[in-house]
Amino acid sequence: TRFLNSLAELDDSVPASHRVQDRTKPAEPMPTDSFKNAADTDPAIAANRAWGDGILSRIASSQLGNETVAQHTITTEAQLEQVFATANGPGASWRQKSAAERAEILHRAGEVLEARRAELMEVAASETGKTLDQSDPEVTEAIDFAHYYAEQAKKLERISGASFVPAGLTVVTPPWNFPVAIPAGSTLAALAAGSPVIIKPAAQARRCGAVMVEALWEAGVPRDVLQLVNMGDRALGSKLVSDPRVDRVILTGGYETAELFRSLRNDLPLLAETSGKNAIIVTPSADLDLAAKDVIYSAFGHAGQKCSAASLVILVGSVATSQRFRNQLLDGVASLKVGYPQDATTQMGPIIEPAKGKLLSALTSVGMGEKWLVEPKQLDDSGKLWSPGVRDGVKPGSEYHLTEYFGPVLGIMTAKTLGEAIDMVNAIDYGLTSGLHSLNSDEIGLWLENIQAGNLYVNRGTTGAIVQRQPFGGWKKSAVGAGTKAGGPNYLMGLGNWEIAPTQD
Ligand code: ALA
Repeated sequence: TRFLNSLAELDDSVPASHRVQDRTKPAEPMPTDSFKNAADTDPAIAANRAWGDGILSRIASSQLGNETVAQHTITTEAQLEQVFATANGPGASWRQKSAAERAEILHRAGEVLEARRAELMEVAASETGKTLDQSDPEVTEAIDFAHYYAEQAKKLERISGASFVPAGLTVVTPPWNFPVAIPAGSTLAALAAGSPVIIKPAAQARRCGAVMVEALWEAGVPRDVLQLVNMGDRALGSKLVSDPRVDRVILTGGYETAELFRSLRNDLPLLAETSGKNAIIVTPSADLDLAAKDVIYSAFGHAGQKCSAASLVILVGSVATSQRFRNQLLDGVASLKVGYPQDATTQMGPIIEPAKGKLLSALTSVGMGEKWLVEPKQLDDSGKLWSPGVRDGVKPGSEYHLTEYFGPVLGIMTAKTLGEAIDMVNAIDYGLTSGLHSLNSDEIGLWLENIQAGNLYVNRGTTGAIVQRQPFGGWKKSAVGAGTKAGGPNYLMGLGNWEIAPTQD
């Protein structure tokens, strides 16, 4: 069936405790005084496989036959003025609520998102081509953000000697590649921290954004506190971001977008999680079978369209000079079944839009000294369906080494020593996620001490950070104005300011 054939089957990184839920029964209530991770759908339960098949048949019978998934009204300039007036008028009352009141609504949001899991997965597949094994953990993450930030909001009030002042009107501009978890996470964080929110979903994933917002309204977030806008025209989008009435912008997207936002307003209080070019290093001490699985999952899950994806694997010493690991990669990658998400056998879905620019060139040509270990092929006329590619012989300093492509292409580099491999990683401008496969504690220590990235994963893939367990965020060009990690204990602090409480005599 669908789930057992999926890439998720390769993902050993998800703890077993994180996958226990019969989706046909009411979800287990979450605690409202502490945090517990929600569970992904367990494909070992037969009822869950039938549940997943139901989602697939709804996708197949509805939208994907014709390209229209939903129709949206684009916000006009006059409407945007109204949105600002509402946010800073009645919307501003949100900060008067106590943390306990906000937390109660956020916990309820977690319950509503859980109840709407299948709908969110269906919409994510329709809009972004996401396969169920990719969208299911994403909904789990959105639910986790709701419950986690609810509890963090209460902690903000408990710090003595200082009081937390919400940032004020917060604009959320999420990406299309995690169309549920990232819009939800940013919005819930700002709400938890006491600020009203205007969210502008990515143009490719507007319906996901709308369903997420509806879920939060249903949970009790007032409509004037959380407002949704659809911006088509770039000038109007710029107006949203650059308006001086905006107190914070939470962006997840490309580094260039963060630069554009900064150029629109140089004093913009921006919290941006941006691009990545991430590598997994494999040393001779590694469990090579596990390493091959993790590299394939990290490189080709959601067709490589994740800021956290591994698009480089760096082979060290004998792993580089022998063919064994390459053969494992070749077998695993060449056997991935590529297709559309409504097809139950699909393991890797399409890319979001027809390949063009640098991604097209990465899929159709190799650089000097490189050769294909697995050559990508365009599989239909849409330009979106590509088989995965693996290029060998990527040289330090080459274009492939340093460029983010955001698609299903993996490059192999080789190094004589672990130190050399670490230098190759650190030569990259970005520093989001990084992986090491090694069973040697000295190697692990050396790598942890020296690698320049925000999320470091040992003997695990580089994608799929879990709220609280792996707070997520990068450094170097992978973050702009951030420094705190989403799903971690400090994130809400970046969404407000501290005022020292007057001492009482
Ligand atoms: N938080 C997402 C991941 O870890 C981007 O894959």
